[in-house]
Amino acid sequence: MSQFQSGILLEHRRFAIWLEARVTGDLDALRQGSKSFLKQLNALQSQFSQAGLGAVIAFGDALWRDLQGSASAPELKPFAPLGKGIAPATQRDVLIHIQSQRHDVNFALAQAAIGAFADAVNIEEETHGFRWIEDRDLSGFVDGTENPQGEARQQVAIIGEGPDAGGSYVFTQRWEHNLQLWNRLAVEKQEAIIGRTKATNEELPGDQRPETSHLSRVDLKEQGKGLKILRQSLPYGSASGKHGLYFISYCHRLYNIEQQLLSMFGERDGKMDAMLRFTKPVSGSYFFAPSLAALHAI
Ligand code: HEM
Ligand code: MG
Repeated sequence: MSQFQSGILLEHRRFAIWLEARVTGDLDALRQGSKSFLKQLNALQSQFSQAGLGAVIAFGDALWRDLQGSASAPELKPFAPLGKGIAPATQRDVLIHIQSQRHDVNFALAQAAIGAFADAVNIEEETHGFRWIEDRDLSGFVDGTENPQGEARQQVAIIGEGPDAGGSYVFTQRWEHNLQLWNRLAVEKQEAIIGRTKATNEELPGDQRPETSHLSRVDLKEQGKGLKILRQSLPYGSASGKHGLYFISYCHRLYNIEQQLLSMFGERDGKMDAMLRFTKPVSGSYFFAPSLAALHAI
């Protein structure tokens, strides 16, 4: 199988940086930028071999069609607003996702990215993620528990065969939490909203959690099979200012991610995710992360 990009399947990295950018039009500068970025990624991976550094370059629909035509990534499309705009679309052209155990190494690679892509893109958003206490989201609930483990990570996240083998569909959505409001809610109320217990992180049985609980919205099955995705989200932000979760998921099918989103934003049965009481999405984009071979060939 074609090799997938190094940042997709990484487990339990402590820090991440996300850059979301719009192309300025010069596709050759973009091609050169990608090559230069991959070189500097390799160099930093060797220099800081203990850091577990990996990264992903991914492209939005319009740019990917310009680079690759219509045959590749047939499910890719621009992200459109959901829930009458409660989930806004900010569809960007390029995503760079950097992960490792060291914020300083991530930062060095982000600086390399800025240099490499200087003539090709405008960076519109830069987000610095960190793993918080006990793998918890800033809401205080453990995040990532039901993520695929071991070999299942690759089966879920990476396209296994065909011309796009080694590729992955990506969705990013930055959420801003209102923790003052959230922390005024009783823990039992919070647990009903998430669908798991807070301190002990146990799943509430399906018949004991509201249909609007986050778990009930996203734990979807079709013909007895779970619609699985691989999440690599992390908390971000400042204590005194804006903060929340930078949500990012990878999947061999865009379909699985989209079904969960339709369910969260009332587009399946009219019911919205109860988490929207305390947090709101402020961005949203779909991307395609080609295999390393396809990335070298753009
Ligand atoms: C599960 C938090 C957004 C998909 C969870 C869990 C938490 C959580 C605490 C339970 C533990 C776990 O299994 O990871 C959040 C927060 C979000 C957010 C705070 C935004 C503010 C999303 C979005 C999606 C999503 C946008 C899908 C597009 C899932 C999935 C699970 C999950 C698939 C596992 C469900 C299962 O199989 O049990 N989330 N989430 N989440 N979330 Fe989210
Ligand atoms: Mg489950």
